[in-house]
Amino acid sequence: MSLSNAVGLIRSKIQIDTIDVALILGSGLGAFADQVDGACIDYADIPGFPHAGVSGHSPKLVIGKLGNADVAIFGGRMHYYEKGQADVMRFPLEVVAELGASEVILTNSAGSVRENIQPGELMQIVDHLNFSGLNPLIGEGTDKRFVGLSEAYDPGIANALQVAAETVGEPMHQGVYTWFSGPSFETPAEIRATQVLGGDAVGMSTVPEVILARFLGLRVGAISAITNMGAGMSNESLSHEYTKNMAPIGAVKLSAILTEYFRTYQPAGAD
Ligand code: HPA
Repeated sequence: MSLSNAVGLIRSKIQIDTIDVALILGSGLGAFADQVDGACIDYADIPGFPHAGVSGHSPKLVIGKLGNADVAIFGGRMHYYEKGQADVMRFPLEVVAELGASEVILTNSAGSVRENIQPGELMQIVDHLNFSGLNPLIGEGTDKRFVGLSEAYDPGIANALQVAAETVGEPMHQGVYTWFSGPSFETPAEIRATQVLGGDAVGMSTVPEVILARFLGLRVGAISAITNMGAGMSNESLSHEYTKNMAPIGAVKLSAILTEYFRTYQPAGAD
């Protein structure tokens, strides 16, 4: 069975029995994994793992100690737009759940649709809009598919991330992330629609992973590094190159927050 093959391979390379948290790094944010002193496994070596094929992502799983937590860090993720599979991250999330993770922190780069949220700033995701018509649980045959999403973004994790952000002096906005399938960027009309509908940022990832994580019983925290204003809101013409070049600005802030978050992390069951 492929899940036990993947878990077995990973277990053969790590010293720890279980992990606490999985962390998925978005475009241009991959360098954060370098801080972890642990096993580094290419996705290509893990049976059944999808290969992240987007430039700016580093297709490796790094597992080890980060601050007070045992973590599995995904240097990159596969997106819906690569193969047209909304559940493409299901298997990797099942693997980390099987390794014992109870929590997943998702990061991404995103475009802002609000003038008060500017490129280079961070936005904590507190809710999302999914008008894509897609859902990673379509085809799931069990009643478990009817996942409640009223508190998809865990308030306890959100609070701890905010405390970490305040401690390191890197304030985060809070807002609603809107999933567009990509890979083309949005049109100016879609950005105006998002503003009216209550979105604060737009991006091409994360939402299917949040749904899958909740399906698997994992608690979720999520942060966007804002790389650009949405289409039509500035004179910049949008490209992957542009967003990749802007990502390191947010990455420095995000690294500081995540380092503090994990430094003060209390594993479940610890008192
Ligand atoms: N739209 C969608 N995805 C993105 C953007 C954007 O403007 N910026 C970074 N990822």
